[in-house]
Amino acid sequence: MSGCMSNEPPVVRWKEKGEPREARWCSEADLPPPRTLLLADDRTTAEKALGTLRQGSYLLYGGDYLNARQLLAALGRRLAKKRRDQRPAPSPAEAFRRERGQRAEEHRLLTRLLVPLDAEYRVALRRGVDLRAACEPVWGPPDGRPVVASLRELQGMIGAAQWRERGLEVKGLPGRLHPHYGVFAPTRGEYPALLRKVPAPEGKRVFDVGTGTGVLGLLLLARGARDVVATDIDPRAVACARENAERMGFGARFTALQADLFPPGEADLIVCNAPWIPERPRTALDRAVYDAEGRFLRDFLAGARAHLAPGGEVWLILSDLAERLGLREEGELEKQIESAGLTVRWKQEVVPTHGKASDPEDPLHGARSGEVVRLWCLS
Ligand SMILES: C[S@@+](CC[C@H](N)C(=O)[O-])C[C@H]1O[C@@H](n2cnc3c(N)ncnc32)[C@H](O)[C@@H]1O
Repeated sequence: MSGCMSNEPPVVRWKEKGEPREARWCSEADLPPPRTLLLADDRTTAEKALGTLRQGSYLLYGGDYLNARQLLAALGRRLAKKRRDQRPAPSPAEAFRRERGQRAEEHRLLTRLLVPLDAEYRVALRRGVDLRAACEPVWGPPDGRPVVASLRELQGMIGAAQWRERGLEVKGLPGRLHPHYGVFAPTRGEYPALLRKVPAPEGKRVFDVGTGTGVLGLLLLARGARDVVATDIDPRAVACARENAERMGFGARFTALQADLFPPGEADLIVCNAPWIPERPRTALDRAVYDAEGRFLRDFLAGARAHLAPGGEVWLILSDLAERLGLREEGELEKQIESAGLTVRWKQEVVPTHGKASDPEDPLHGARSGEVVRLWCLS
């Protein structure tokens, strides 16, 4: 839960025209309130702002909201240009780690440009807009106090709110899927397609481990599964999956629980789209993609048999990007499958069609352009 939603949310203090000011501090990344907060306005250039942010200070914008957004965009362009202009790394793994480290540093700097919101979650700047629809699902209802928050985080929340409202069409589902803020969503349409290519799970009891929006479990229900018990470590995903199941009218056939990996009991089919990069997650959002030291994958495989009913199957969906980047050794996955007492019955694969896979400017283009996502059927 974000500290902002606690009974005693953190407070940020600063001075404006010599007067002491304070506001509720809302940070999605749960950063502590800034110790050095300087003021910026419509006269602040991107160069000056970057210098200040690099020294570790935060900047609170006090001018026009559209200008604040333009400043953030200009800062982002400067940082991205610097990243693109460097020499190639000696190996794909190093290129990957370097790019990730640089993006994290860019994010850290950009997150420090702050804007004030009034006690109703309206941007308290000239041409400021009402952000209640974006803020309330993440921070809860306004509590009567003004807020200071990162403009970059707010932009993420605005995008997420629009998406949640509109929903996403996934072929094979009886309705649109509505992702919540911070929940991994199937924007890469290829892997749900894998579930439409394989035998229908007629009458089966399914576990969906790491359910996110609920998409895989819901697709299997739509294809005739008897019921689905879905888990996720993130309570936001559990709430999101439940809401999607309700909207689609699956009622008691879909249950979602907060759990580390498996729910109690046994299933005829355990489906899982695992985090696919064996590197340390840096944020709560990263846990959908990054799997520190491959712990999720290893424990999922090692624990699966104990949760399979006689004759049951595991359907593991996994990208091979880690092997292509040299972050997991070739053959390591097969070894883990074997030592878990499982055997590979068949495989299906798809080639991702997401933008990065076909972007030659991307320093990881070589690895990404050959990426394959596989569904491994194990028993
Ligand atoms: C790649 S996403 C897949 C989400 C969804 N199944 C889909 O296919 O779109 C991985 C999911 O696993 C969840 N997760 C990460 N670690 C977990 C754990 N130890 N136990 C349960 N879920 C976990 C993440 O929160 C995330 O929702």
